[in-house]
Amino acid sequence: MNASVNRQILLLEKPSGKLGPEHFKLTNGAMPEPKDGEALLRVRYISLDAANRAWMHGATYRSAVEANTVMAGGGIAEVVASKTPGLAPGDLVFGDTGWQDFAAVPGKHLTKMPKMEPMTHLLSVYGIAGLTAYFGLLEIGKPKAGETVVVSAAAGSVGSIVGQIAKIKGCHVVGIAGGKDKCHWLTSDLGFDAAVDYKDGATFKALRAAAPKGIDVYFDNVGGDILEACLPQMNNYGRIACCGVISQYDGVPSAHGPRGVPGLIVVKRLVMQGFIVMDFMKERDKALADLQSWVASGKLKVQ
Ligand SMILES: NC(=O)c1ccc[n+]([C@@H]2O[C@H](COP(=O)([O-])OP(=O)(O)OC[C@H]3O[C@@H](n4cnc5c(N)ncnc54)[C@H](OP(=O)(O)O)[C@@H]3O)[C@@H](O)[C@H]2O)c1
Repeated sequence: MNASVNRQILLLEKPSGKLGPEHFKLTNGAMPEPKDGEALLRVRYISLDAANRAWMHGATYRSAVEANTVMAGGGIAEVVASKTPGLAPGDLVFGDTGWQDFAAVPGKHLTKMPKMEPMTHLLSVYGIAGLTAYFGLLEIGKPKAGETVVVSAAAGSVGSIVGQIAKIKGCHVVGIAGGKDKCHWLTSDLGFDAAVDYKDGATFKALRAAAPKGIDVYFDNVGGDILEACLPQMNNYGRIACCGVISQYDGVPSAHGPRGVPGLIVVKRLVMQGFIVMDFMKERDKALADLQSWVASGKLKVQ
């Protein structure tokens, strides 16, 4: 990284179909000048998240990303200069830095982070992914020991942590992922009890075999066909934590919801609840303490 050049990745246009490299452009932008209340940041790592694609569809829990602007995204960054109280050069922060080398960001939108190695843990297990897994599973899924927990996009950054926390809580854990290698990794390295390869075709049947007692908690990262396969296999009073809808992000969102909604929700007395990780930030310290102790004891592996 050259300290006088601000490399930036622009979103050239919002995709109407699948996202590709043609929608982005690498350019050299101006070095930002921090205003009062802002800090000048040197970005160390940017987090490439599924949600980045969803933001291109329009405003959600945040404003939409617009064409011809620096692509938005969270990052871990070092404070270079500060015009905001509480931050000094050398401090490490998390914030929406965008995909660029340098950014000037209001201090009130930055979270000070501890220094640690590897620094990438601040974006994974101790960042949005880990906290999403922790709160979504424990606060919305409310798993009890002995119950069956199913998670989709299970080999992804959120899903891989969800499954491991569910194992720590004494559950029977089934991951749904694409391909034999990912499925093998879930069971052999991460300790999942079973894995279902949804690219193999017969997801419903494979899920039935992997979760013979039915599903008590489904942590849904994908929506669509996989949610539809899980719904009829939910046990009475089961909980569905709606975390994301990856199957619908890249392209035109599906006009149809999964079959079984709301009929199966009524008959099986299911609770189906969406959440955004920011809702739980008051409890962040407790979550981080748990995640840190599980990582330290080797119970939680970070890819
Ligand atoms: N609610 C919140 O506050 C919050 C916060 C953070 C993230 N999220 C959501 O959490 C979910 C997981 O995010 P992540 O960061 O873990 O993602 P990730 O690490 O990028 O993993 C995504 C995985 O999803 C799988 N996938 C892609 N398309 C799919 C499809 N059509 N059907 C099934 N699986 C598909 C792919 O794995 P395979 O190779 O296995 O297909 C991919 O590697 C996303 O929906 C994201 O938006 C929510």
